[in-house]
Amino acid sequence: MRHTISPFVLGLALVGCGDLESIANPDPTQLDTIEFARFRLGHGLFFDSGLSGAGDVSCSSCHEPSKFGVDGLARSEGTGGAIADRNAPSVFNAALKDRQFWDGRAQTLEEQASGPLFAANEMGQTEEGLIEHVRVAWMQEFDVAFPGEEGPTLEQVTIALASYERMLPRRSRFDQFLDDDRDALSRRERRGLRIFRRNCTECHTGSGVGGADYHKLGKDVPWPQDRREDEGLFEVTGDPSDKMVFMTPSLRNVAETGPWFHDGSVESLEEAVQLMARHQLDRSFTEAQEQALVSFLKALKAEDVQPWAYGDWDAEAAVRDGE
Ligand code: HEC
Ligand code: HEC
Repeated sequence: MRHTISPFVLGLALVGCGDLESIANPDPTQLDTIEFARFRLGHGLFFDSGLSGAGDVSCSSCHEPSKFGVDGLARSEGTGGAIADRNAPSVFNAALKDRQFWDGRAQTLEEQASGPLFAANEMGQTEEGLIEHVRVAWMQEFDVAFPGEEGPTLEQVTIALASYERMLPRRSRFDQFLDDDRDALSRRERRGLRIFRRNCTECHTGSGVGGADYHKLGKDVPWPQDRREDEGLFEVTGDPSDKMVFMTPSLRNVAETGPWFHDGSVESLEEAVQLMARHQLDRSFTEAQEQALVSFLKALKAEDVQPWAYGDWDAEAAVRDGE
């Protein structure tokens, strides 16, 4: 008996697996001096096109804060007009995800950040070029952010970028609702949430409303043949059982981050919901159900964008004014 799992325990685990969680707004003033210096340096680096080999592209080129951390393109444009392999996901809620990239090939934000820096069709940089640039442009800030450490190093650059990204998630009306403010969502949005809980939280779960694990795109009905050029995790592992397996994206701010899916091939949320219903669930929704779901998805939009998300945020003034 000791070695069998009781059905009761299993039942509890299954109930727990569709849980949506609210988030708190990150507060930079709660950071200690070194953490704040890293966050602030990361903010500066995120907007610095000097980080790219040709000096023409910054992280923010493809993850523009005024566009909720995306670029609005099906596939991003990198250095010299090169086209990236996939659609750019938002950086706003990346900190809530358990793995990064559509195929989850990076585990942490730190590990993720060196990807775009050295990708030929994104920032086209070399490690020597990067270190050379930050030594000239950011040496003082590195000394404050990494006191007593030798540098600047690639690792320090990625730690700073990740420190900035961890300050980006932002609460929505949905978080207020989860925290017991029933009126934060309209009737239609609440109906959408009920449908969402019954159908979608097997995959889009946790505080990111997604981003917790891998799932097969086309779980119940194979994904359309003409949209299977990119086979997700299979491209990394070569294991046939990983074909069309992708990290489930976070749906926070999803109404703002189109076009959707890893290839940016879907241009309306209605179509995204229809594709999910057909291929992930082998069902269809009535028009009223679909509209309710879309209303709920729109309610996942952050109430505001934090001032430090933008390039012109003045850290100096913020510290002075106690913001
Ligand atoms: C040329 C456009 C471009 C630039 C520049 C760029 N990115 Fe991205 N970013 C992308 C694309 C495209 C993906 C998805 C790639 C994939 O999954 O294979 C991505 C993925 C990410 C992710 C993972 C998000 C998720 O939900 O999985 C993070 C975090 C991120 N980028 C941060 C950064 C940072 C930090 C920089 C600067 C060092 C940067 N990006 C520069 C286009 C860009
Ligand atoms: C079996 C798992 C699974 C279920 C169930 C599921 N999804 Fe998804 N969803 C995914 C995966 C995986 C992706 C990423 C697709 C890709 O790689 O392009 C995705 C992508 C999406 C996107 C596009 C997000 C973006 O940023 O491009 C939306 C919107 C979405 N799902 C909504 C829903 C809704 C609404 C439901 C319920 C009706 C649902 N999903 C059910 C796994 C699932």
